[in-house]
Amino acid sequence: MGLVLGIETACDDTAAAVVDEDLRVRSSVVWGQKQTHEQFNGVVPELAARRHAEVILRVVKQALEEAGAKMSDLSAIAVNNQHGLIRSVVVGVAAARGLAYAQGVPLVPVHHVEAHVFSAIMTNPALFEPHICLAVAGGHNALIHVHSVGDYEVIGRTLDDSAGEAFDKVGSYLGLPFPAGAQVDKLARGGNPRAYDFPRPKLKDGSLNFSFSGLKTPVRMVAEKLQDGASAADVAASFERAVVDVLVAKTLAAAEQCGLRQVSVVGGVACNTLLREELPRAGAKAGIVVTFAPPRLCTDNAAMVAGLAQHKLREGAVGTLDLDATPNAPL
Ligand code: KG4
Ligand code: ZN
Repeated sequence: MGLVLGIETACDDTAAAVVDEDLRVRSSVVWGQKQTHEQFNGVVPELAARRHAEVILRVVKQALEEAGAKMSDLSAIAVNNQHGLIRSVVVGVAAARGLAYAQGVPLVPVHHVEAHVFSAIMTNPALFEPHICLAVAGGHNALIHVHSVGDYEVIGRTLDDSAGEAFDKVGSYLGLPFPAGAQVDKLARGGNPRAYDFPRPKLKDGSLNFSFSGLKTPVRMVAEKLQDGASAADVAASFERAVVDVLVAKTLAAAEQCGLRQVSVVGGVACNTLLREELPRAGAKAGIVVTFAPPRLCTDNAAMVAGLAQHKLREGAVGTLDLDATPNAPL
């Protein structure tokens, strides 16, 4: 077995990566589209697809070059064909099919959210054992009982907005450019998390589900008063604290309910500074070990796609060129 090239175009990041048999990331290139969508305060699907089509082969070429690899070194190509914006996913699938056909190598289909789950496993082999995964991003927000790689039970999900969407919306109330999660995080570091007592939706309802849309209005109402002396940093810090309180409590409750002592955290919001401090701290008190995926594997990337494909091939998966884009597939 040789190298696997991964391709990922779920939303607005065009990504390609090369991963070897030992799950080492040889290269990981992510071509973001921030400038394209910033002015619209959200991702415009039509424009995202056009940008993917423009840059996908350049991104693949760069990933191969950075890995010091040639197309002939590839034993397979992997692509996310199961989650994201349909027009975006189709571009990745078409490119991957063409490359696999030209090279005569198998094409391995990958589910974007499963690849996020695997992003923690590929950097911490202890997670091949059963654990709880908090997958928390812009396009998805779930608690997953990982029985083993390939065997998942979604035990909690958001009933409306994801945590990432909430960060992005609050960022826009504070005048920050989309996507604003990382900027809200930065701003919050200089603020007082107790300045505003924002709601902690569903914190004590006994379920493992989330709901972040109810946080928007109270935060917006305070954010509108910034000219009256309210501090943007205090708003950001208080909002972040509310979200993190809910994520920590629900994740530890999930581990308790399933009798598991290991937790992983993946997806863009797993980059958040406060979550990275608070969850391990609260976990340690409850005897639960928490692993975060490394930040470069948290936000959308193709290394997690190639890594998962390497594992599937090792377990006997055979690829197929006959692959469709089914972007709403369940995990
Ligand atoms: O995993 P990702 O790149 O794409 C999806 O699959 O959705 O996640 C992007 C999300 C965005 O909502 C972004 O604002 C959020 O992750 N994000 C953060 C941070 N970095 C990225 N949210 C909070 N704190 C951060 N440091
Ligand atoms: Zn994602």
